[in-house]
Amino acid sequence: MQAVQYTVGGPENLFLGEVPIPEPRDGEVRIKVMYTAINRADTLQRKGGYNPPPGASDIMGLEASGIIDRLGPGCPPSVTVGQKVMVLLAGGGYAQFVTSPWQLVMGVPSQFSMSQAAAVPEVWITAYMLLHKLGHLTKDDTVLIHAGGSGVGTAAVQLIKQSGAKCIITAGSQEKIDFVKTLGAAAGINYKEEAVAERVLELTNGKGVDLVLDCVGASMYEENLKALALDGRWIVYGLMGGAIKSDVNLGGLLRKRASLIFSTLRSRSLEFKSSLVRDFSQLALPRFEDGTFQPIVQKILPLSDIAKAHTLMEANKTLGKIVLKVHEDDTIKDEL
Ligand SMILES: NC(=O)c1ccc[n+]([C@@H]2O[C@H](COP(=O)([O-])OP(=O)(O)OC[C@H]3O[C@@H](n4cnc5c(N)ncnc54)[C@H](OP(=O)(O)O)[C@@H]3O)[C@@H](O)[C@H]2O)c1
Repeated sequence: MQAVQYTVGGPENLFLGEVPIPEPRDGEVRIKVMYTAINRADTLQRKGGYNPPPGASDIMGLEASGIIDRLGPGCPPSVTVGQKVMVLLAGGGYAQFVTSPWQLVMGVPSQFSMSQAAAVPEVWITAYMLLHKLGHLTKDDTVLIHAGGSGVGTAAVQLIKQSGAKCIITAGSQEKIDFVKTLGAAAGINYKEEAVAERVLELTNGKGVDLVLDCVGASMYEENLKALALDGRWIVYGLMGGAIKSDVNLGGLLRKRASLIFSTLRSRSLEFKSSLVRDFSQLALPRFEDGTFQPIVQKILPLSDIAKAHTLMEANKTLGKIVLKVHEDDTIKDEL
């Protein structure tokens, strides 16, 4: 089959190559991939900074949509060949076929194109995990979401709106802020032009936010600390603004009685991910069906344009998701 291969370096080091089709093991399904999508983590992996966890495919790609084409032993009767699915992966999505534990596949909402389905698993399940499993979101909370126009950000804003809570987002352009407000953000702050914490305190009448979703890290540390309310929860799940913060004074965190939490999804156990997929599906699939939630697909490119897709993402030019078309299939109507 064709799959994206790479040598460590820039986007120009990504290329299509031939590799063997994977066989499903015990409890796994094999999926003929129609679409996959790119994530920020893929760009880190390409640069040699984010190796796959033990047992995961060394092919990139954390999510896909497609059709189950083979079952390994031990799959339950509810999983059948021919089902249209979207899947959360620890790797392997940038390829014509991928295998996955059956527990991590979800049915495709009937209103969805297969390209929309590929934009769901990684960022929506991450946002769900951060808000509901780790952040214990309540309807009275105000949440600060950094990178509101990112894949994770555009999902988080919709999950917060549905829960009845409020959110303030940051983004690097007015265009991104305006768009994310249409998804439900109460306010947007351009972090390149405005003092983030000062604006958050103005917007919350001096109280600050109850929860911060922080994918920035070091460069936003002081702003987050100032913007956090007493007893606030602060979840770090990415380090786009750096990992090293040499002058941290823990007194600030203590005075705020802050809960500082760090999280990753890819390396979690199958048990953890299975329950996450199950709980997320229960909340989100009916809301994808009725249009309350929508995956944000900015662009669809052929898999052969993988270098262009990574370049766009690293230039911070993406709003929502870039999806890659992998397989042609006459039985499924979709756009490119
Ligand atoms: N821990 C986990 O389980 C997990 C899972 C999934 C994703 N993640 C992390 O979540 C983050 C978002 O991922 P994604 O795939 O949704 O990203 P994405 O769609 O590529 O969006 C990232 C956006 O972040 C903004 N940004 C970049 N550098 C920044 C900086 N230094 N300061 C502030 N904003 C910056 C840019 O938008 P602007 O124009 O607004 O600057 C950029 O477009 C990444 O850090 C990723 O590694 C973590």
